[in-house]
Amino acid sequence: MIDQYTTITNRNFSVRNEPKYFLLMPIFSPLMKILALNASPHRKNSNTLQLVEAALRGASEAGADTEFLDICEYDIKYCTGCGICYQTGECPIKDDYAEILSKMQDADGLIIGTPVYINAVTAQLKTLLDRMADVIHCQAFTGKYGIVVTTGGGGGTDEVISYLGNTLQVLGANMCGGVGAVMGGGPEQCQLPRPKGRGLGLYS
Ligand SMILES: Cc1cc2nc3c(=O)[nH]c(=O)nc-3n(C[C@H](O)[C@H](O)[C@H](O)COP(=O)(O)O)c2cc1C
Repeated sequence: MIDQYTTITNRNFSVRNEPKYFLLMPIFSPLMKILALNASPHRKNSNTLQLVEAALRGASEAGADTEFLDICEYDIKYCTGCGICYQTGECPIKDDYAEILSKMQDADGLIIGTPVYINAVTAQLKTLLDRMADVIHCQAFTGKYGIVVTTGGGGGTDEVISYLGNTLQVLGANMCGGVGAVMGGGPEQCQLPRPKGRGLGLYS
């Protein structure tokens, strides 16, 4: 399965600032599905959304079938630690998690966006990830590709990229790169990494 795909040239977080490093698209299938998640409660005014959209645009220009999810619009309850998912493969909590997981399972590539909140991801994203314990234990995202985009007021973007990169890897996915913008220098700060964000989604 993996041979169908182009080479991933950069799986090392430490070189994520190189401009060309994310080869999301398979060589032979223009119908790759790319799902982008944004986890900012700022919704349409989200700084992070600009980077998410740039990466999604890159994927779309490359011919991918793209979809966007604002996870803050969904009802995702806390994991209760019941452990039932380990036994049955399903979470018993009734909310929107199953729908989001199904979309993630259907995707070949994931773009995960979050602002930095207290040096970490937002509670909304962490709540989603906590619900995925069984998915992680089964490494159910093996064969998928993932990138991370994030914005922070003064920093913390490296930590978030590293954390989500590791999370993608424990999910079984190939972490292909990340891009962060520090907004303290003004709104134009988000413009600078946008081409890089777009490049993350582009087939090259
Ligand atoms: C609750 C909260 C916590 C934050 N924590 C941090 C932080 O630890 N470090 C930082 O650099 N910026 C922090 N910020 C600033 C946001 O990361 C920054 O404004 C970001 O660009 C917001 O992105 P968004 O518009 O996509 O939500 C925080 C903002 C909020 C509201």
